[in-house]
Amino acid sequence: MMNQIRKIPSIPCERVSRSIQWPRTDLLELLGITHPIIQAPMGGVSGPALVAAVSNAGALGSLGCGPLPIHGARHQVQEIQRASNRPFNLNFFAHPAPRIDAQAAGRVRARLAFYYGLLGLGSVPEPSDPLPRFDEERLELILEVRPRVISFHFGLPPATAMAQIKRAGCIVLSSATTVAEAKALEAQGADAIIAQGVEAGGHRGTFTSGDGVGLVGTMALVPQVVDAVRVPVIAAGGIADGRAIAAAFALGASGVQIGTAFLGCPEAAVSDVYREA
Ligand SMILES: Cc1cc2nc3c(=O)[nH]c(=O)nc-3n(C[C@H](O)[C@H](O)[C@H](O)COP(=O)(O)O)c2cc1C
Repeated sequence: MMNQIRKIPSIPCERVSRSIQWPRTDLLELLGITHPIIQAPMGGVSGPALVAAVSNAGALGSLGCGPLPIHGARHQVQEIQRASNRPFNLNFFAHPAPRIDAQAAGRVRARLAFYYGLLGLGSVPEPSDPLPRFDEERLELILEVRPRVISFHFGLPPATAMAQIKRAGCIVLSSATTVAEAKALEAQGADAIIAQGVEAGGHRGTFTSGDGVGLVGTMALVPQVVDAVRVPVIAAGGIADGRAIAAAFALGASGVQIGTAFLGCPEAAVSDVYREA
């Protein structure tokens, strides 16, 4: 991992426009890091070992707290703190309660019944909210730990929670998959925007609906978001080496968020088969 970080090429930057400046340091100063790389939060796979290793290497490690029960998140934060005194990021999901349409659910269950039977899985379960939502307990954890960075997926929490998080001194990031989402996040107080293209592994943080939402590629999205907001922009989606990081900077990004490429690290909590693939 250290080798990968050191291999990033640098571009001479005296007296050039914002779009091709290197290194652009606004994000480094904001997050208190040395390398403009955020290891993406990846629920279930970016555990404390990976977070601490990345943060200790001078980039920003991110713990994917989204799917974790609250006691699991607290335990993993303590593990990070034992292994690193560098800035790190705690990531949560800010999605609203899902509206379950009984008729659609019935249709889906009927379609799945054949496959459940084929695989001997029993009856198809009723749909439910599969992930914990951002709540008072999670807010309390943030206010107790006061990590340098908090990132949200699927929008941002309500204004009262945002105010408390920012009063606690945390820098808040969130993902946008369109220009409109980026503007909305900035208006709601995000300190930097992650412009997440369709190439992104895992799931996209889309939180609005409409044509093309979540389908814009990273190379097209990043410069549009850079032009639309005043806060630093972090490029995410399909970035896996120094060339792509340089390209993101050339498009105006101040940093990159990388997920899939970190799955090959020995510290990632994935099985050997997954890592190999
Ligand atoms: C396995 C996996 C799990 C992910 N889980 C999360 C998550 O819990 N929260 C989040 O904000 N982003 C999550 N993401 C998306 C990343 O934040 C990031 O946008 C994406 O990995 C960037 O694209 P890349 O994988 O091509 O580098 C996940 C990505 C992967 C690959």
